[in-house]
Amino acid sequence: MNEVVPFRPPDEVLLRARDVVRTFRAPRGGRVQALRGVSLSVRRGEVLGVVGESGCGKSTLARLLVGLDAPDAGQVTFDDGDVSALQGAERRGFHRNVQMVFQDPYGSLNPRLTVGDTLAEALRVHQLVPREAIPARVEELLAAVNLPPEAAKRRPHEFSGGQRQRIGIARALAVNPRVIVADEPVSALDVSVQAGVVNLFAELREKLGLTLVFITHDLRLVRHLTERVAVMYLGKIVEEGVTGQVFDHPRHPYTRALLSAVPRLVPGAKRREAPVSGEVPSPLNPPTGCAFHTRCPKAQFPICSAEVPENVFRDGDWPVACHFPD
Ligand SMILES: Nc1ncnc2c1ncn2[C@@H]1O[C@H](COP(=O)(O)OP(=O)(O)OP(=O)(O)O)[C@@H](O)[C@H]1O
Ligand SMILES: [Mg+2]
Repeated sequence: MNEVVPFRPPDEVLLRARDVVRTFRAPRGGRVQALRGVSLSVRRGEVLGVVGESGCGKSTLARLLVGLDAPDAGQVTFDDGDVSALQGAERRGFHRNVQMVFQDPYGSLNPRLTVGDTLAEALRVHQLVPREAIPARVEELLAAVNLPPEAAKRRPHEFSGGQRQRIGIARALAVNPRVIVADEPVSALDVSVQAGVVNLFAELREKLGLTLVFITHDLRLVRHLTERVAVMYLGKIVEEGVTGQVFDHPRHPYTRALLSAVPRLVPGAKRREAPVSGEVPSPLNPPTGCAFHTRCPKAQFPICSAEVPENVFRDGDWPVACHFPD
């Protein structure tokens, strides 16, 4: 895979979640606490990774960031404007600027439309190019994701998973977004085509100056593609920082456990070191205090089971939600 050339814009926050809470009614009663107070800043031009085990709230956060869902409490802002308050042209502008790429390249494309029609529809909705210029723009979009012009005439079922994901990316790009939130965009693909799609993200981001939020449970991809990373556990962010620093010196015991499950990423780590012991607790009834205390090798009582750790800053360090960070 190609190395990503770091692009360092001023630290301008483009998209932000502030103390976002989202709960769902569980099918068998009770409330699922999908997000329990998440704050996250996405800076202009960066690639931000979001990692965590299944069910920790990654997709819920993605949907809130792109405005497909709204928080029960807290706020999502884009260019400092509250997304929930946007109306009319401003709301359309937000949806144009912040696009999502979904995990499932099979379910996210309309099977009845040709690829050309799918892309043309996105262009028409936002009236970005004159009608007569649409075919040329469709061809340009296909070229941007390395698909031949003939692809426009075919329907989604005629393509492989990797090609379909490229079409999904072309559709997101059609409206010239400033941000793309990609939710596990390669995890449904064959390993053999994953690198190509990941490299396409890196390439497009550099060429177009995109801001990219890349959600994945694959730590190798995080290391390869992202500049900063946020680690989630049970509906909260437990650690957030520059990817290289977090990977080399993880401060939260959960981050350390996640990383030690992928020994090649951590010099000196042994595979024997148990990744994370025990089951993830239910988000219907998360543990009190620090939600990780039931699985944490460093937990001390009663503090870890009684007090929610606030983000602890020390000179030169990055925020970590732990009573006993490294
Ligand atoms: N619409 C919904 N109704 C009820 N529960 C939901 C809904 N959406 C998400 N949840 C629950 O919220 C929690 C967080 O789900 P989410 O899909 O955000 O996790 P995730 O980190 O994306 O997981 P995965 O890695 O499996 O994709 C889970 O317990 C999930 O079952
Ligand atoms: Mg998900």
